[in-house]
Amino acid sequence: MHPNTSVRFFDEQFQRQVAAAEFALNPFESAALQYLTGEVLDYGCGLGNLAVEAARRGCSVTALDASHTAIEHIEAVARKARLRISATEADLREHRIDKDYDAIVCIGLLMFFDCPTAYRRLADMQAHVRPGGVAAVNVLTEGSTFTDMLAPEGHCLFKTDGLIERFAGWQVLYSKIETFPAPHDTRKVFATAIARKPSEWPH
Ligand SMILES: C[S@@+](CC[C@H](N)C(=O)[O-])C[C@H]1O[C@@H](n2cnc3c(N)ncnc32)[C@H](O)[C@@H]1O
Repeated sequence: MHPNTSVRFFDEQFQRQVAAAEFALNPFESAALQYLTGEVLDYGCGLGNLAVEAARRGCSVTALDASHTAIEHIEAVARKARLRISATEADLREHRIDKDYDAIVCIGLLMFFDCPTAYRRLADMQAHVRPGGVAAVNVLTEGSTFTDMLAPEGHCLFKTDGLIERFAGWQVLYSKIETFPAPHDTRKVFATAIARKPSEWPH
């Protein structure tokens, strides 16, 4: 059993999804897909629906997540379809990215970290996007009242404009705030930013 509440929540959800063969891209993954080329890092990849689709389109994908069920599933799909995906089980709270990528995707992960950790991980991702490359990031924001999946040991709701403000100096390709209804008359508010790092970027 994983010690983290959020990872347990998703691991159980992924077991149900694998059993039911439910592998549709979510709206944030669909928005990001068209911007992915070359070497891609999917940070908090979940079941890997985006990683698999990007690999089918010719990307070479590194997929990281703490869910054992998700990583096992991605490895099986990649092996069977001979896709260029390297999937690894990792707790990303203290993780350091060790190389640069053409695109880094992080959808629905950072809300599960305390805010200082979330901001550090975001800065690390931004630092490892190659000049001219793309970051696609999605977070939960203030105004969200659905908390079932959030770990009591730490979570982060970004300020409404907090994500896009962290992309100052980048070329914004896509920026959206979206509200979705959630169980027990609650709601989830998400911010998504897809941005290109300028090709002249100081190291
Ligand atoms: C909302 S899901 C998003 C998954 C995928 N990016 C997507 O868009 O479907 C959140 C993911 O974060 C992962 N996660 C939560 N805490 C984590 C941690 N500390 N380290 C690594 N992954 C974590 C969960 O296992 C889950 O796959």
